[in-house]
Amino acid sequence: MVARTQYLHRLRQGLARSPVVMLLGPRQCGKTTLARQLISAESPNYLDLEDPAVAALLGQPMTALQSRRGLVVIDEAQRQPGIFPVLRVLADRAPSPAAFLILGSASPKLSRQASESLAGRVEIIAMRGFGLDEVPASEPDLLWLRGGFPRSFLARSDADSVQWRRDFVRTYLERDLANLGFGLSPARMGRFWTMVSHYHGQVWNASETAASLGIAPNTARSYLDALEQTDMIRRLQPWSANVGKRLVKTPKIYFRDSGVFHTLQGIRSASDLQTHPKLGASWEGFALEETLHALQPQEAYFYAVHSGSELDLFLPLPGRRLGVAFKRQDAPVLTRSMHIASTDLALDELWVIYPGKREYRLADKVIVRPLSAVTQV
Ligand SMILES: Nc1ncnc2c1ncn2[C@@H]1O[C@H](COP(=O)(O)OP(=O)(O)OP(=O)(O)O)[C@@H](O)[C@H]1O
Ligand SMILES: [Mg+2]
Repeated sequence: MVARTQYLHRLRQGLARSPVVMLLGPRQCGKTTLARQLISAESPNYLDLEDPAVAALLGQPMTALQSRRGLVVIDEAQRQPGIFPVLRVLADRAPSPAAFLILGSASPKLSRQASESLAGRVEIIAMRGFGLDEVPASEPDLLWLRGGFPRSFLARSDADSVQWRRDFVRTYLERDLANLGFGLSPARMGRFWTMVSHYHGQVWNASETAASLGIAPNTARSYLDALEQTDMIRRLQPWSANVGKRLVKTPKIYFRDSGVFHTLQGIRSASDLQTHPKLGASWEGFALEETLHALQPQEAYFYAVHSGSELDLFLPLPGRRLGVAFKRQDAPVLTRSMHIASTDLALDELWVIYPGKREYRLADKVIVRPLSAVTQV
């Protein structure tokens, strides 16, 4: 069992100050396992809406919930939106005899229901699979190859891990999307998702993708929205303040999970990865996701000028303008592009994140940092 100390801490903190806490994340990232560390599966207050008897009971949510005391967990909440207005009434009791922990798959519908019905009464915690801060320090490359979904990462062999991820992708297409309320064709989405994987770490061109699949650009956008809203991809916006240069204005896309990316690219093992043309993009995407998770910035952008200079991340943090470049190299050096971006953006600091072990300075404000140092909390 991999300890998920940070999430457990955030859950406890949330439940101490808010009557309702929602834990949202992609399917199979470990939500139920985490919740069961706070409440036993046998407890009458553990309510799993996947169980038909529980679903029937919660058909009358007020009756089913109002007399409960202490921690009440409702799993697979996306199945019964009728509970949200009732939770609002229950959350407003003072003092409240119960705290509610709601688990569900990340979807726009669920977040909307929660924020509409529970405005000001709910704390939302976004969860993902394992990250570098959770797996043993000796296994960063395994996490990169297999991604963070617990069963993929913990699989006994690479082949088992590949198989698990293939099944995950298939289930996502054939079942999850429909369950989450997206009326999209599984076959078409499968082709679309694979095509999107070629753009990992790059600016995404809706009309180009749409043309090669024979669909309208708006349709392509709605497929991309679905992947983003279910936490499969991240859309990174370009920084667009006026710096007197011609800036790139379309977002970049990144797969959130490197293992899912590898599955769609047909990368099955460490040796496949080492000789694959997407090797650099894969590592940079992995490092970007881990860095954003570690820093939890309110806003994140990339910066790119049509004439060439660019920066992977620009983070306007409170009181500090931080730039980040990801370099899968043994010993990164200062480049002209870093220099220009640094000046354009008036950076206070520029981190060059790389897979090596030594931290060193390249210039006054430019420091080369190991990924492992950035993600250690
Ligand atoms: N911390 C962990 N250590 C080891 N295995 C884990 C851990 N968390 C989850 N798993 C394993 O990963 C799988 C998925 O976990 P879990 O059922 O908790 O995820 P979930 O997010 O609730 O998934 P779903 O959305 O499908 O309900 C399970 O087989 C579980 O045993
Ligand atoms: Mg679950």
